[in-house]
Amino acid sequence: MMRVNVTVNGRPQQADDVWEGESLLYVLRERLGLPGSKNACEQGECGSCTVRLDGVPVCSCLVAAGQAEGREVVTVEGLAQLAGRRTEDGELAPVQQAFIDAGAVQCGFCTPGLLVAADEMLERNPNPSDEDIREALSGNLCRCTGYEKIMDAVRLAAARQQEAV
Ligand code: FES
Ligand code: FES
Repeated sequence: MMRVNVTVNGRPQQADDVWEGESLLYVLRERLGLPGSKNACEQGECGSCTVRLDGVPVCSCLVAAGQAEGREVVTVEGLAQLAGRRTEDGELAPVQQAFIDAGAVQCGFCTPGLLVAADEMLERNPNPSDEDIREALSGNLCRCTGYEKIMDAVRLAAARQQEAV
């Protein structure tokens, strides 16, 4: 058993009695009350559990909680408040709004992971090609949409981001 200290969405958090081999995903969902990251495969294959670890998108089901010690995690719950973003309370991150507006959410199970991955790509690459988008989202499986609406949503978010500059 161990204690894990991790900053989640800008807030220092502590999880006690974490067992060896417990995943970061489990800690987020079951210990820290953040069920936004989904657990579908728990084998690193679907991307529904994607979070940012020190900025980099990872499958949180594959990260041992102990590996997150002292690091910064951003989950889908924190997207609207990411550093430098001036969203009001209750307002969505631009990428979230774009997913809704483009009709890219069906069952929604894949959505949190896609949002985290797409948001990270848009931060690095404000003007992505379709190829860039496909590559950034290649680890995120969606059984419902056939991906075209997801592509539309990310293109829309990129276009809006450009307009806002
Ligand atoms: S639950 Fe982590 S990749 Fe599927
Ligand atoms: S919307 Fe259902 S898996 Fe993507």
